[in-house]
Amino acid sequence: MRLLILIKFAMKLQEIFDTYKEYIMPTYTKVPLVFVKGKGSYLWDIHAKKYLDFFAGWGVGNLGHCNPAVMQAVRDQVSKLIFIPNNYYHPSQAKLARELAGCAFAGKVFFCNSGAEANEGAIKLTRKFGNGRYEIITFENSFAGRTLAALAATGQKKYQDGFQPLPPGFVTVRFNDIEAVKSAITGKTAGIMLELIQGEGGINVADKIFVSELRKICDEKKLLLIIDEVQTGIGRTGKMFCYQHYGITPDIMTLAKALGGGLPIGAMLVKKEISDTLGPGMHASTFGGSPLVSKAALAVLKEVNRANLLKKVRELSGHIFSELDELKKKHAIIKEIRGMGLMVGAELEHEGKAVVQKCIEKGLLINCTHEKVLRLMPALIVTKKEIDKAIGILDSVLTGL
Ligand SMILES: Cc1ncc(COP(=O)(O)O)c(C=O)c1O
Repeated sequence: MRLLILIKFAMKLQEIFDTYKEYIMPTYTKVPLVFVKGKGSYLWDIHAKKYLDFFAGWGVGNLGHCNPAVMQAVRDQVSKLIFIPNNYYHPSQAKLARELAGCAFAGKVFFCNSGAEANEGAIKLTRKFGNGRYEIITFENSFAGRTLAALAATGQKKYQDGFQPLPPGFVTVRFNDIEAVKSAITGKTAGIMLELIQGEGGINVADKIFVSELRKICDEKKLLLIIDEVQTGIGRTGKMFCYQHYGITPDIMTLAKALGGGLPIGAMLVKKEISDTLGPGMHASTFGGSPLVSKAALAVLKEVNRANLLKKVRELSGHIFSELDELKKKHAIIKEIRGMGLMVGAELEHEGKAVVQKCIEKGLLINCTHEKVLRLMPALIVTKKEIDKAIGILDSVLTGL
């Protein structure tokens, strides 16, 4: 009987892989796992094997899988109104924009569907604001998305190769190097765009002095400071938004990933003084901020507060970093631990692919960014016990290398 079930699953599994091969474009490096269920910090594959998810959907799953509050909000809304176009009004979209401004800064929101789209909006707004000035300074190892302008704003050649010519108007300089920024500014510069923790670039944290200098320069030269919080936003670093650790306020903040609790939503919050730069007909997104995703995002923001997640992240952050520091002392392969809150990178002396694979075999899902940096981004609802379990698995994998 058991054998029969296994054969049935194996056939099903192979059929899934084959169907992907035949019908889905091969744009992703795939891990041969088929997940069918998620709850909190856990995922179950098609064989009912349970995995501890320490890379919650590329940063989407800050509330864990199938968060009950998000599920309830979606259930309530789905039977009332899923979509209306943006030339009409909906109370949830209005409320969500007000909530976002309320927990960030006074301004107005443009809703879209993804991080790349939010960044495209920020780029367009900056060009319009520039009124002839169109250059945006970006940083080495940054990541802004896969659409053409976002790709041009991405300071990593490997993502750009093969897609030239990219839209002009982006100048890439060294991260955390204020002199490089100063010398890149010309009469054409309109803005500076950065992630405060470069996620796809290897968990590189922006220096506090560097960021406050950027703010000063932007004020002096009338440039827009665009902070990409697509990966760092919605509590990931222990504050609702990462910029709040830095004592500055951006002119534009972009969001996506965790905002919808698993539903696709992107947003650009623009400070009040410049929030009418894009007028009717200048920018749009058909699905942006539909009633369904807005309702889900409202539930996410409410849940972050209700569950006191920011405080929890700050507490658990201390624990995960001290545990990883211990691992670093034990395993010479770990070169450096960096990050903030529950956005953690462990840079290895060599490629991390094999470590990720062995962790998966032991039931722990992590990721490797920038070839050598193990990235741990559990759901913010993770427990101390789950962190200890993940560290234990990582320890055993590194011991067995
Ligand atoms: C910092 C940052 N910006 C933008 C993006 C692009 O977001 P999306 O994949 O939703 O377009 C990502 C995606 O990983 C990101 O990490």
